[in-house]
Amino acid sequence: MKLYIISNRLPVKAVHRDGAYLFTRSEGGLATGLHALHTRYEKHWIGWPGVDVETDEDRRSIREELAKMNFHPIFLTPEQIANYYEGYSNSTIWPLCHYFFAFTRYRKDFWEAYRKVNALFCEEILRRIEPDDIVWVQDYQLMLLPGLLREHRPALRIGYFHHIPFPSYELFRILPERAEILRGVLGADLVAFHTHDYMRHFIGTAERVLHIDFRLDETQIGNRCVRVDALPMGIDYAAFHGISSNAGAQPLIAKTREQFGDRKLILSVDRLDYSKGILHRLRGFGSFLERYPEYRGQATLAMVIVPSRDRVNSYADLKTEIDKEIGAINGRYSTMEWTPVRYFYHGFSFEELAAMYYVADVALVTPLRDGMNLVAKEYVAVKNDNPGVLILSEMAGAAVELADALPINPNDTEQIAAAIHRALTMPVEEQLRRIERMQAVVSTQTVNKWAADFMKELADVCRRNEAVR
Ligand code: UDP
Ligand code: G6P
Repeated sequence: MKLYIISNRLPVKAVHRDGAYLFTRSEGGLATGLHALHTRYEKHWIGWPGVDVETDEDRRSIREELAKMNFHPIFLTPEQIANYYEGYSNSTIWPLCHYFFAFTRYRKDFWEAYRKVNALFCEEILRRIEPDDIVWVQDYQLMLLPGLLREHRPALRIGYFHHIPFPSYELFRILPERAEILRGVLGADLVAFHTHDYMRHFIGTAERVLHIDFRLDETQIGNRCVRVDALPMGIDYAAFHGISSNAGAQPLIAKTREQFGDRKLILSVDRLDYSKGILHRLRGFGSFLERYPEYRGQATLAMVIVPSRDRVNSYADLKTEIDKEIGAINGRYSTMEWTPVRYFYHGFSFEELAAMYYVADVALVTPLRDGMNLVAKEYVAVKNDNPGVLILSEMAGAAVELADALPINPNDTEQIAAAIHRALTMPVEEQLRRIERMQAVVSTQTVNKWAADFMKELADVCRRNEAVR
């Protein structure tokens, strides 16, 4: 019995350099979280390796390399990347689910490409799987896939996890293809979300769009029961928590601390995305320097921004805005010895990132909407008897579990400034107490626990469905 994880993006991406392909790890919560997953099943993964590969020869060599890790690539054409990935997935569904209604674009060719690529994934899965395998479909790029698989294999065990927010009916109904998409998702036996709110929105939307009834968290589609649940995803706690006791990591931690000097370090880490509230955060930091002049020269904001979806207009425009805002703050407050915002527009290795989390006095996480936000959990996990304060937006899924963070509304600039000040003046004992309480949650609800819970519940629904077949 094998477990097939299916996601648009594989956990490694192929990068073309000096005439050859290298493999590096993918960023984003889905890939980092699920990559760390250990299960009792033989784990296979089907997805896109993140580049347009032109020749059959290159495709063959990438396929062979990836097969060594049980990864199986789906190659997309430039047209599919433009219309399915940048188009319907990231210019239609993503903005809609994150309540960025004005950014949502509707184009028939986007939808056609979305359907075709979902069908392409379906064909590849059907070619590989055996009847007792489990297929676990991930995220909004593949919402039609459970339904397509169900048409071909009525008895297949299929799960679906939605990693981003699911909006209220009033928003989702705007989508012309809302019914087809919901029917696609309901092809799964178990459909799960990070929070109860997303789950309730999904149930309400499915009931009103498809005229079906749910009894609590279940509905009946033909002779099949479909269950819906809220299962918040976790992280590989041991990997992050162990970093400071790992002798090899000590020099890196010391070096990172030295590089930022003995000033207070405020850290933020995200993909470049309008949902992350990056401009709101910068305005909050600017206001902090304005209101608390004693911190000028004493506190630095380090911003790690990983390039993402940069051919989508709304992302490219945001990059320009961020550059401008950082320029304005640095132009105004920089001195010969101090640059207020240290800006990194590239990814870091796991070790480098963990070292930054470890030395940061504050993590500033300010999304306007975020399905979960694993960065917040990673920051909490890394701490090991050393203090730190997490400032966390109420709009992140993670806020439900991390009640000991300092909550902020990212639209309230003054509140962000006050929260930074409060974090920097918080007594060490209180910082440690809060971290400890949050670690109790993050160390229990790990990514392995999350997947095990999902699998157990999926097995339970499938058993019931098999009994009536
Ligand atoms: N990340 C990474 N390299 C970097 C910066 C971030 O691998 O240089 C990872 C980070 O560790 C986290 C993920 O990217 O696991 C971001 O996940 P999150 O849930 O916070 O946001 P998403 O990108 O999924 O919206
Ligand atoms: C979020 C989504 C994932 C996606 C990731 C990175 O975490 O939920 O599905 O893989 O962002 O985005 P990208 O478009 O680079 O795959």
